[in-house]
Amino acid sequence: MLLQYFIVVGMALLMTGAQSEVIEVFAEAGSQAILPCKCNPLSTHLPAIIWTKANKGTVWRKERSGLQYWGYSWSPKGSHRAQCPHSQFERGDYSLQINNVRDEDGGIYSCRVDNGNQVTENVVSLRIIKVSISPSVPIWGKDVKISCDVNPWPNGATVQWTLNNSRFLTPTTIMKKSFMREKADARLTGNWTCFVDYKGKEGRASATLTVMGIVQPSKDDTKVYAAVGSAVTLPCVFSSELIPSRKVWEKLKAGSFKPTPGRLPDSFSPISPSSQPSSDNSASLKEVGFQDAGRYRCSGTVEQQWLTRNMQLVVAKIDSSIPSKKKDSLMLDCQLSDTSEVTNYEWVHVVYDLNGTRSEGSILNGKTLSISKVSEENRGEWACRFYGKEGLLGNVTYQVHLMGGLSGQKSSGVSQNTVAVVGLSFLLVVLLLILIQMYKNHQRRKRIFQYPALETIVHTTSNEREERERNREKM
Ligand SMILES: *[C@@H]1O[C@H](CO)[C@@H](O)[C@H](O)[C@H]1NC(C)=O
Ligand SMILES: *[C@@H]1O[C@H](CO)[C@@H](O)[C@H](O)[C@H]1NC(C)=O
Ligand SMILES: *[C@@H]1O[C@H](CO)[C@@H](O)[C@H](O)[C@H]1NC(C)=O
Ligand SMILES: *[C@@H]1O[C@H](CO)[C@@H](O)[C@H](O)[C@H]1NC(C)=O
Repeated sequence: MLLQYFIVVGMALLMTGAQSEVIEVFAEAGSQAILPCKCNPLSTHLPAIIWTKANKGTVWRKERSGLQYWGYSWSPKGSHRAQCPHSQFERGDYSLQINNVRDEDGGIYSCRVDNGNQVTENVVSLRIIKVSISPSVPIWGKDVKISCDVNPWPNGATVQWTLNNSRFLTPTTIMKKSFMREKADARLTGNWTCFVDYKGKEGRASATLTVMGIVQPSKDDTKVYAAVGSAVTLPCVFSSELIPSRKVWEKLKAGSFKPTPGRLPDSFSPISPSSQPSSDNSASLKEVGFQDAGRYRCSGTVEQQWLTRNMQLVVAKIDSSIPSKKKDSLMLDCQLSDTSEVTNYEWVHVVYDLNGTRSEGSILNGKTLSISKVSEENRGEWACRFYGKEGLLGNVTYQVHLMGGLSGQKSSGVSQNTVAVVGLSFLLVVLLLILIQMYKNHQRRKRIFQYPALETIVHTTSNEREERERNREKM
C-alpha cells in the first residue's frame, strides 16, 4: 500500500510539476465522504476531469464534451455511489462525493483536471473509520471486544475514546489503545466514540453498546415498595432474546449475600410457571407481611453465564396508638422497613360520598398524624404517602371507624372489628355457661330441701369425718 502511495504521489509530482500534497480525509463507515479537488477557475475551456483510485482504475470521469463515465463498481444498477456535483464546477471545485462509504473504499485517490493548457492533480488519502463491537450484543459478564478500525491504518496516529461524551477511564489510565477487551456490564453501555488524530486531521466513529442480561430492574439493590396486606410484584425480566435456564429466587440474609435458610414467604409465587420457557422471571407476593421485608435475589443461567439481580422489598405499615393524655385522639405513625430513600411523608383523608365518588381532603405533612377519634369528619380512609428524591414511592392506608371507637388497618387483612366480634361472642358464651351453672346449683338446693332427713345424714357423716381427722393429728 505504501509503495503504491509513493508511486501515485511521485507520478502526480512528475506530471504537474506543481507542489501537490496528499490530503488526508477520514470518513465514518456508512457516511458520505468528500474528497477535495480544487483548481483555478480560469475557465475559458471546459476541463476534462478524471478521478481514479490507486490500482482500481477510474471512479468517474467527464470529457470536454460533457459526457460522463463511471467505473464499473461505482454505479451498480445505474445508481451512482460516487459523483461530482455540477453546481460547484464553475468555482473550480471538482470534489468527489462518495455515499455510504465502506471499509474497502479506503485508499489513495487522485483527481486530474485538464484545462487544455494546464493539468492539475490532487492526491487524497481516504481512511474509513469504524467502531466495531463483538459480539454485537454481548451477554452480561461475558467478554466483549470494542475496537476502532481504520482502513488503511495511519501509522503513528493517536487514539482516544469517549463513552457518552466523557473520556473513558480504565482503572489505570485514559483509554488510548485502538481496542479493548472487557467483561460486559452496565459500566460499558452507551455511545462509544473513537477519535483518531493523524497529521492534524481528526477522524471519528461511534457505536452504541448494549448488554443483554436482566433488564428490569436495571440496577442491583433497587427498592420495591409495598403496603402490608397488599399484593406486590418483584420484577426480574431478562432481555427478550434470552430464555434463562435454572431460574432461582432467594431471600437473602440481612447484611450478607447468603440466602436466608428460612425460605421465601408463604404467599410468594413466580408469575410464569417454571415449566414454560420465558424471559420473565418476575414473582409476586399475594399478601405482604411486615416480616417479608428484606433483600431478594433473582437469578438465571444464560449460555453458561449465571446472571443475578438483588432487590429490596420495603414494607410500609401504619401503627396506631392512643396517647395516654388525650384519650379521645388517635395517633397514626407511618412506618417503613427501610427509610433510606424517603425524603418526606404526607397524610391525606380519602372520603367517599353517598354516590361512591372519591375525593381527597387537605394534605398534612409529617410522618405521624394525630386526629380526633370522636369527630365524625375523621371517619374513613387515611392514606400515608411517602416520597423520595424522584417523587412518589408508595402509600399505605388505614381505616378509622367511629362506632365504639374501633379502628383498624384496612390492608392488614383481618380487621380489628372481626377481633372485637369474636371477643364479644366469647364473652356471651361464658356468661351463658355461668348462668346455666347457677341454675343447676339452684335446682339441686331445692331438691335437698325436699329431703331434710337426708340433709342431717350428710351433716353427721361429715362431722364424724372431721373428728377422726382431728384425732389423727393429735396422735
Ligand atoms: C450512557 O447513556 C445511556 C443512554 O442515556 C445510558 O443508558 C447509559 O447508562 C450511559 N452509560 C454510562 C456508563 O453512564
Ligand atoms: C455518539 O456520540 C457522538 C460524539 O459525541 C455523536 O456524534 C453521535 O451522534 C452519538 N450517537 C448517538 C447514537 O447518540
Ligand atoms: C349523587 O348523584 C346524583 C345524581 O347524579 C346527584 O344529584 C347528587 O347530588 C349526588 N350526591 C352527592 C352526595 O354527590
Ligand atoms: C395508593 O396507591 C394505590 C396504588 O398505587 C392507588 O391506587 C391509590 O390511589 C393511592 N392512594 C392514595 C390516597 O394516594
